[in-house]
Amino acid sequence: KIKGLLFDLDGVLVDTAVYHYKAWLRLAKTMGFTFSELQNEELKGISRMDSLDKVLAWGNVQKSAEEKLALATQKNDWYVEMINKMTPAEVLPGALNFLQQAKQAGYKMALGSASKNSATILKNTNLAHFFDAIVDGNSVSKSKPDPEVFLKGAQELALQPQQCVVFEDAEAGIIAAKRGGMKAIGIGDKNILKQADKVVAGLGQLSVKNLEEL
Ligand code: G6P
Ligand code: MG
Repeated sequence: KIKGLLFDLDGVLVDTAVYHYKAWLRLAKTMGFTFSELQNEELKGISRMDSLDKVLAWGNVQKSAEEKLALATQKNDWYVEMINKMTPAEVLPGALNFLQQAKQAGYKMALGSASKNSATILKNTNLAHFFDAIVDGNSVSKSKPDPEVFLKGAQELALQPQQCVVFEDAEAGIIAAKRGGMKAIGIGDKNILKQADKVVAGLGQLSVKNLEEL
């Protein structure tokens, strides 16, 4: 029986994916290249440094470790500038309602995000109070598709992986959930989130009752 819900943040609860994309694109442009929205899909769910490696590879650019750190910091400064201005209005359609329903139904809830900026986002969008545990980029060492982030989430909720459902918009995140032994609900496109147990366009398309059918 499902007792715990593990939520990815970017692209599931809030639309920060567009800010990540803007900041990476701006960085790529300073190096003289761009990349597509489809390529951007591959950046979803993976850590900042892994994302940078992919972006640099697309531009055929090589950088030293020191330069990479400076580039990642620049990208993050631009990104933080945008998320500092976020408001509760930027919670994705249906997400607030779903969290409220789930809380009322007694599910335990954890955040499972690769982001090191999750605290800022949760605070500005007023979502922090829903979570019994927060596992983010500051507390994991392996990036999705490694299941570490969700296994830690389940553990912090004192539940077995099989008792948890993961909500994810990234292919890497769905793979992480399945590797971890959890159910996975994809938020987005069925053709991209192939391994998910169920795919919906947004949390607005889902009711807490659907969790019993998984
Ligand atoms: C999320 C996003 C990724 C992002 C990662 C790290 O998983 O989907 O696109 O790269 O978090 O975010 P951060 O805020 O630490 O740079
Ligand atoms: Mg995401």
